[in-house]
Amino acid sequence: MTDLWKITETIFDPKRLPHYETALTQGNGYLGTRGTFDEYYPGEQRTTFVHGVFDDVPVVFTHLVNFPDWTQLDISLVGERFSLAEGKLLDYHRELDLRSALLTRKVRWESPLGRVSKLEFFRYPSLADPHLMSQMVLITPENYEGEILITSRLDAGTDTMRYQQWQWLEQGVAGDTIYLRMQTKTTKIEAALAQKMLVNGSPDFKKDLPNITKMPSVSAAVLGQKGEQIRFEYFTTIYTSRDCDNPKDQALQCLAGLQNDPGEGLFEANQQAWQKEWERCDILVEGDDEAQLALRFSIYHLLIAAPRHDERVNIGAKTLSGYGYHGHAFWDTEIFMLPFFTFTRPEIAKNLLSYRYHNLPGAREKALEGGFQGAQFPWESAGDGREVTPTWVPDPADRKSLIRIWTGDIEIHISSDIAFALVQYWRLSGDDDFMVQRGAEVILDSAKFWASRLEWNPQTRQYHLSDVIGPDEYHDHVDDNAYTNYLTRWHLHTAVALAEWLKSHDAQAASHLFAQLSINEQTLSNWLTMADQVFCPLENQEGLIEQFAGYFERTNGLAADFDPRTESIQAILGIEGANASQILKQPDIMMLMYMLPELFDQETIQANYDYYTPRTDLTFGSSLGPSIQAIMATRLGSQADAYENFMRAARADIEDVRGNAGDGIHGASAGGLWQAAVFGFGGLRIDQDRWHIEPHLPAHWQRLRFKFMWRGQEQLVDIRSQEKKS
Ligand code: BGC
Repeated sequence: MTDLWKITETIFDPKRLPHYETALTQGNGYLGTRGTFDEYYPGEQRTTFVHGVFDDVPVVFTHLVNFPDWTQLDISLVGERFSLAEGKLLDYHRELDLRSALLTRKVRWESPLGRVSKLEFFRYPSLADPHLMSQMVLITPENYEGEILITSRLDAGTDTMRYQQWQWLEQGVAGDTIYLRMQTKTTKIEAALAQKMLVNGSPDFKKDLPNITKMPSVSAAVLGQKGEQIRFEYFTTIYTSRDCDNPKDQALQCLAGLQNDPGEGLFEANQQAWQKEWERCDILVEGDDEAQLALRFSIYHLLIAAPRHDERVNIGAKTLSGYGYHGHAFWDTEIFMLPFFTFTRPEIAKNLLSYRYHNLPGAREKALEGGFQGAQFPWESAGDGREVTPTWVPDPADRKSLIRIWTGDIEIHISSDIAFALVQYWRLSGDDDFMVQRGAEVILDSAKFWASRLEWNPQTRQYHLSDVIGPDEYHDHVDDNAYTNYLTRWHLHTAVALAEWLKSHDAQAASHLFAQLSINEQTLSNWLTMADQVFCPLENQEGLIEQFAGYFERTNGLAADFDPRTESIQAILGIEGANASQILKQPDIMMLMYMLPELFDQETIQANYDYYTPRTDLTFGSSLGPSIQAIMATRLGSQADAYENFMRAARADIEDVRGNAGDGIHGASAGGLWQAAVFGFGGLRIDQDRWHIEPHLPAHWQRLRFKFMWRGQEQLVDIRSQEKKS
């Protein structure tokens, strides 16, 4: 029977190495470590990223910096190096326990010279103390005796991508602890790592502490006896100058404070911290094991990427689990991942939204550079909130040529997406203080951007937005993208309503903020007039809203016309070809109807769903598509479509359906899956001052249970299917 809390690998297949490295990533909201083996394996991407530690790299501007890996071990069994690339693998079992982020691997391995050993590996980064990581290896020689030598190192040269972002500062040994200090080359963030080792619970063992430059190490040599298990344990700490003034002292102190033989106590603390998270965030599904496991897998990946103690970092599109998108954050956070946090862990949602507030200077800089006012949030954001979307990237079809990326220039809807997420957080939490102190400034200053960005057309006597990219990125340089225009109108209306609320709620804060942003009554009245004049395309005779001006004149075609296929429509047609066709990378009009449902009646939603769905590349287009599509399908009563799309999102990283899971977890798909379960099948809807549910469970689901926070109080929703009740 499948354990619905565990991701398990029972056959080692080197071809799936990158996929499993991503899927088995561990983390604690401070750092993320890919599920590489403890010992080296050819082709691995040995990676630990720490939130907020970025440094400059050519072309893509900035990238999360790869830390020395805390799990890396060399294991020598009577002179033979343990490696799955050699010898014979007799037994293999690897599993990630989602309840505690514990990664376990048990192997029986026969060396090239015939020595058989049982090796068991356990490791986790602590959720109770996010600077502390724990690792244990149990080795039992089965048919031999002799020296077992394990070397662990803090390697400043670990640099999977060869970006060389570290400058070495210092290393050494303090008592029985090794340490390393480094600094990022351009951003000058200092980092310190320290590590301590125990053998069979004791720090007294035959050790060697080779102080190799850039690689302080600790080796333990133990005489292995046939059938006797030896226990090796490692405790590693990481601190950076983003966390404290003296990272080296902190890292050493943290280890010095450990009790004798601390393993069990630390694990217990980690487990308790995780238990609290799961009590609040778990979703229970009965009647569908695959969906159950996928939901927990997604929630786990959101939780390990979630900054609990830092409001100056965001979650990258690929979380902290891989190199895709360089650690940069997109609208993926606010629209796809954030609802999970807003509804279950509002404290984390607040941290993530605060990141945007702290990065207003970057957004103001971007607006100014474009000749606009106020704050325009960057399409891709990293350490300091400036625009970091690469302008050019290598063409996947021909690595020697470059492709111009326009999203950083013209995918502008993100400013409204952020405002939308702020309002959603406010409605759910009732956190007026946050709105007064931070949210209002973000929403009003980005409204100022919109007011300067809108283009007045004297012929139509309306405001337009030309040359943009909407959510559907197969079509760039389009005019009047419906999603962008409708959201802009919503943003301006919301900003005026918020300003009015602020004046009555806290007149002093209002006048202070208005003065700071140079806003007055006239500004507000202008925004209202402008909002009412933003061109928002209405339904045509068939009830359809045109995705952008001229969309209906593009070449008609359906995604299914290209089936069977193993790649995206854009890969098949090329950038220009996809742009010329009507096929979408991801839902655009559906996205709009999902976000502003009150503007469209059921008939209109149905007509647009029927038209746009077959034109959307849901299988190989954006991973952001299926979950939203699933929610809209549930609202229209198309249960089969809803479930199909839900499972597409569910399998994105567990099954690696797009073949790119090795680049990192699709964070938006994980967040979208949570939304599809809660807002789609669970049918949770928020009206002004209350919530209600309109469940639409898939026929074979017997139960769906989840919790969420409403105005500081935990709410429980427990839906059981009719059959079960009767
Ligand atoms: C999608 C965007 C998304 C980005 C990062 C792109 O492929 O089209 O909507 O923000 O990936 O996940």
